[in-house]
Amino acid sequence: MNITIIGTGYVGLVTGACLADLGNNVFCLDVDQAKIDLLNSGGVPIYEPGLKEIIERNVDAGRLTFSTDLAASVAHASVQFIAVGTPPDEDGSADLQYVLAAARNIGRHMTDFKVVVDKSTVPVGTADKVAAAITEELVIASEARQSMQSGTLDCHVANASRNDGANAVIASEARQSMQFADKPMPAVQGADALIIVTEWKAYRSPNWTALKAAMKEPVVFDGRNLYEPQEMKENGMTYVAIGRGNHG
Ligand SMILES: NC(=O)c1ccc[n+]([C@@H]2O[C@H](COP(=O)([O-])OP(=O)(O)OC[C@H]3O[C@@H](n4cnc5c(N)ncnc54)[C@H](O)[C@@H]3O)[C@@H](O)[C@H]2O)c1
Repeated sequence: MNITIIGTGYVGLVTGACLADLGNNVFCLDVDQAKIDLLNSGGVPIYEPGLKEIIERNVDAGRLTFSTDLAASVAHASVQFIAVGTPPDEDGSADLQYVLAAARNIGRHMTDFKVVVDKSTVPVGTADKVAAAITEELVIASEARQSMQSGTLDCHVANASRNDGANAVIASEARQSMQFADKPMPAVQGADALIIVTEWKAYRSPNWTALKAAMKEPVVFDGRNLYEPQEMKENGMTYVAIGRGNHG
């Protein structure tokens, strides 16, 4: 698949190179022209064992590209990884200016659906800020386009901006239909399935009888292999774990 990595530093370069090595077509963007020039001339700005070889192999295979072209980076892929720096602010909190600048760039250039992944280390709630920055740019871009165009082209752009707007509405509706709970039992009440994505000790030995009674269907997808398949079976749970087959 096509993947764009925004920010070609320690994290972005290693992630991009490894994703390319898995067969993906990766576009690594950076605003630092000197870094991109160095990479395009065969140099590697950081040292990680084996990284140079992986980069060379994938550049040669045409799966790894380095560029400062913002518009091309957005057009390249429907999956956009933000991997820019988040240096600590004066008060120790993460400075999100580079993350939000990357988000605005996506909004400015996108013309179709995008999945945006915050790979940078960011505080909880940043995804909302990123979505808001993208939406803001989409609205500005659509308004500008509408006022500049005329005739049939105008009609076409209006349709595109309606689609942009539709994506924003879908995202906002999705958020509205999510509910959050600060305790386990209210979270599973009436659930069709439980998905485990944490290894916290507090979730290792739940009361299966109470859990089963609370859920609509006794189905558990275990992303952390926390539970024993045999025990789950004995407790009457439908259990799907990772790498253990459907029933362990
Ligand atoms: N380095 C690590 O080992 C490590 C480990 C875990 C998490 N992280 C986190 O990953 C994130 C990236 O860290 P890093 O060490 O790779 O940073 P880095 O400083 O090495 O790289 C960031 C890159 O982003 C580029 N950049 C900045 N703004 C940009 C923009 N708008 N568009 C495109 N490129 C832009 C910079 O020029 C730079 O090359 C940070 O949030 C960091 O906390 C880093």
